Amino acid sequence: MEMNKKLVKESEVIMTEMVLPNDTNTLNNLMGGKLMHWMDVVAAIAAQRHSNSIVVTASVDNISFKNPIALGNVVTLRSQVTRAFSTSMEVYIEVFAEDIPANKKYASHKAFFTFVAVDQQGMPIKVPELVPNGKKEEELYAGALRRRQLRLILANRMDPQDATELKSLFDLDGVSKKQ
Ligand SMILES: CC(C)(COP(=O)(O)OP(=O)(O)OC[C@H]1O[C@@H](n2cnc3c(N)ncnc32)[C@H](O)[C@@H]1OP(=O)(O)O)[C@@H](O)C(=O)NCCC(=O)NCCS
Repeated sequence: MEMNKKLVKESEVIMTEMVLPNDTNTLNNLMGGKLMHWMDVVAAIAAQRHSNSIVVTASVDNISFKNPIALGNVVTLRSQVTRAFSTSMEVYIEVFAEDIPANKKYASHKAFFTFVAVDQQGMPIKVPELVPNGKKEEELYAGALRRRQLRLILANRMDPQDATELKSLFDLDGVSKKQ
């Protein structure tokens, strides 16, 4: 692999935590904010591994909390870089919860975070290209462009007219024809 290209597996991170009393709400379930903190950490490490630099969280895509995670459960977080752009990287995070005594393990959350590689002054710096390998990595890689355009539009950093991947979603051609 060339110096400026990296594989997904080179940045994959697996982190395991246990839900302790200080991590819970008054129903004895894991606090959403605590989970988001772990997600931020596991994702930042993947972005650091890919870029070999300091990274900052640029954005967090929507997270829905479908299932509560109980006190004493074990939480496994897995992160991988899905695509590197110029200075930013999209990271995919999967969260699994496990009740070890009950022998139950389930997928509980998924999310995409975006990190930017920066120098000591906090200025964005270029990151290596990511080369996907296999169907799942290729799907995540392809979808990353669509998700990037959507989040840049929502952050008011992109004109929807320039979102090549989202034209069908917003039917922008249809809108302009009707005007
Ligand atoms: C993220 C940050 C470095 C971007 O700096 P900037 O001066 O806007 O730089 P640029 O316009 O050159 O953008 C740099 C990259 O960030 C990406 N970016 C900026 N805002 C983004 C957002 N809201 N969502 C996704 N990507 C974003 C840009 O698309 C660009 O990516 P690319 O180089 O791969 O195309 C800067 O806004 C920052 O430092 N934010 C604070 C980060 C932080 O402290 N996070 C923790 C919060 S407590």
